[in-house]
Amino acid sequence: MIILGIESSCDETAAAVVQNGTRILSSIIASQVDTHCRYGGVVPELASRMHIEAIVPVVDEAVQKAGITLGDIDGVAATRGPGLIGALLVGFSFAKAFAWARQIPLAGVNHLEAHIYSLLLMEAPPSFPFIALVVSGGHTNIYHVTGPSAFELMGQTRDDAAGEAFDKVSKLLDLGYPGGPVIETLAKTKDPGHIKFPRTLLEKESFDFSFSGLKSSVARYLHDHKITSPEDKAQIASSFQAAVIDVLTCKLIHAAQVKCCNRLGISGGVAANRTFVTQLSLEASRQNIQVFAPPVDLCGDNAAMIAARGFTMIQEGRLCDLDHDVFSRTRI
Ligand code: KG4
Ligand code: ZN
Repeated sequence: MIILGIESSCDETAAAVVQNGTRILSSIIASQVDTHCRYGGVVPELASRMHIEAIVPVVDEAVQKAGITLGDIDGVAATRGPGLIGALLVGFSFAKAFAWARQIPLAGVNHLEAHIYSLLLMEAPPSFPFIALVVSGGHTNIYHVTGPSAFELMGQTRDDAAGEAFDKVSKLLDLGYPGGPVIETLAKTKDPGHIKFPRTLLEKESFDFSFSGLKSSVARYLHDHKITSPEDKAQIASSFQAAVIDVLTCKLIHAAQVKCCNRLGISGGVAANRTFVTQLSLEASRQNIQVFAPPVDLCGDNAAMIAARGFTMIQEGRLCDLDHDVFSRTRI
């Protein structure tokens, strides 16, 4: 079964063709980051307009690269939420029209479930059950995933998402948007233990996160110290990143232990951070826990993960009608 996946929840217009939920025939991502970085973050109205311009060429390219014709597509899957309403509407409306015109099934995919499915697109994916962290610009959620559609939310951030903290600290350091990649690169050059930023772990048995205190602590440090050189900025980046990674690592290993589960997957934009993957893998291996992280191009927003999740939904008969709408916030 061939599924066309479409993603437009934030600042990437993406389309992908995936066979039987696992084999990626094509995956095209048109990023708007060069436009939004001028404003220090995503401008929703601009994002919607750019999705409108990109959606048809991106789908065309995905179909062409896959080496198929439109008639080969058996179903469509598009992100229904959470995300920016105007941005979601572009991809979801396109998908509705496409499915109606070709008389094929339509799945309205939850973006967070799709990030978990990016783990199932790996060459050697985790088997069920596993612990999954979805860690992006908007979310830091831990799930116990016990089956293809069984996601138990164990904890989430109470304020900023981890990716948001990277972006805000990058802004404080005048390093631009998005913050994650530049902070990761700078951090490699300095000792992470040099500045002791706080590790907020909240209650002992909680799997929730809080990153706003860490961000304020970096702001206070900048206020109290005269930071001018790139060297100083790299030092702060390294110590900040270490604090985020320590908290994520600690909570994830604890979650795996509590659920007696020896498989741990991470996905979402922050999972592209290979320093995080390396540290988590090292500490997890000491507890006999195996870590799964998709390749970088599947960590951030993409449509292959939407198609993969949509494939299961279509198989389960969980379809969308033309009167279904997008949603901005959700919980799974
Ligand atoms: O999943 P994603 O592409 O979009 C959302 O659904 O939010 O995640 C984007 C987030 C941004 O906050 C970005 O700074 C962060 O992922 N990010 C990283 C890295 N690459 C992207 N954070 C840390 N290290 C990275 N290498
Ligand atoms: Zn995402």
